[in-house]
Amino acid sequence: MTEIINGVFYCGVRDVDRRMFDELIPLPQGTSYDSYFVRGSEKTALIDTAYPRCVEDFFREIAEIECLDYVVALHGEQDHSGCLPQVLEKFPEALVLTNATCKKLIMDALPIAEDKFRVVADNEEIPLGDKALRFLHAPWVHWGDTMFAYIPEDGVIFTTDFLGAHTSHFDVFSHEGTETLKLAKRYYATIMMPFRSFCVKHLRRIRELSPQWIMPAHGGVYRNPDFILKAYEEWTSDICPRKVLIPMVSMYGNTAKMVEYLAEALQHRGFEPIVADAGDLGTISEHLADAHTIVFAASMVLAGPHPAMANVAYLANLLKPKAKCLAVIGSYGWGGKLTERLAAQITQIKPEFLGEVLAKGAPNAETFTALDTLADKIVAAY
Ligand code: FEO
Repeated sequence: MTEIINGVFYCGVRDVDRRMFDELIPLPQGTSYDSYFVRGSEKTALIDTAYPRCVEDFFREIAEIECLDYVVALHGEQDHSGCLPQVLEKFPEALVLTNATCKKLIMDALPIAEDKFRVVADNEEIPLGDKALRFLHAPWVHWGDTMFAYIPEDGVIFTTDFLGAHTSHFDVFSHEGTETLKLAKRYYATIMMPFRSFCVKHLRRIRELSPQWIMPAHGGVYRNPDFILKAYEEWTSDICPRKVLIPMVSMYGNTAKMVEYLAEALQHRGFEPIVADAGDLGTISEHLADAHTIVFAASMVLAGPHPAMANVAYLANLLKPKAKCLAVIGSYGWGGKLTERLAAQITQIKPEFLGEVLAKGAPNAETFTALDTLADKIVAAY
């Protein structure tokens, strides 16, 4: 347990070996399950617990805690509430503070009696003596139960999953810089982006509090939180940089040649092309966060898109990126329905469709002219 500021301690667990998030997105640096202990002059509170498989590490972290009045459950997902039964067993006098939605989710998943809970209202303050915990209901970042806890006396806000990052490489603090932003952006895209309008609303509420410390449930603590708030304001805004994401799968190199040509054409026109392997869902998700245009670049298999691109389209639809435009390019042997089948998967967002460029076999002069026209259309649509 590490004291961050007077009476507020970090007692999270680093899950260095975890390699996938939701068995879908790679976690190159693992993740952490951040828990915090707050010692007021009269009462104490533990903010969240940890993933059940890390229970032993978690109990090592909280070994110094001698008495506990409250366990705060900011979110019912098991990576934060999973060790609640063991915590309540060790501290039978402790009450679980949470909202009604979270209470129900926890009771559905864990054997905890109803009388162990005390439901807190939005803006309700629970005094701990020289400091208090104020609860801010913040539904849909990213579940309906999510809420924040704020200590007005210390300018500390605990934001559960919101504003976090999947990494185990930190020394309690998240340091401002490209690496932190990259991890936070990938995390935002895969977890928060489908709830962009809620993110905007709750960001505004956090801004109004001008917190000095942001303590999320994954990744390090932000001691100068302005940079992460600004990054979120950028990602959640409707504005996109001049960026084109081109997820690609090419069986014989023909689609790859088309991608290479289009990427260069876009670069000449002042756009940043991001070419990503269709299997690299982490990179694709990261750039879905702010790409202006998505170009699906795929070979065809049995008259439809290569399954790897079908997977990308399915994921893009789930994550609801703010992309304004969409196009399809690719190569085929016999023919088929590349564009129709990919477009059919994009139902939750309404990007403008800028057209398709398809080559039968190897791309030729006509194909490259069509790719130049597509690049012009992308520029015009910005
Ligand atoms: Fe980190 Fe939604 O759990």
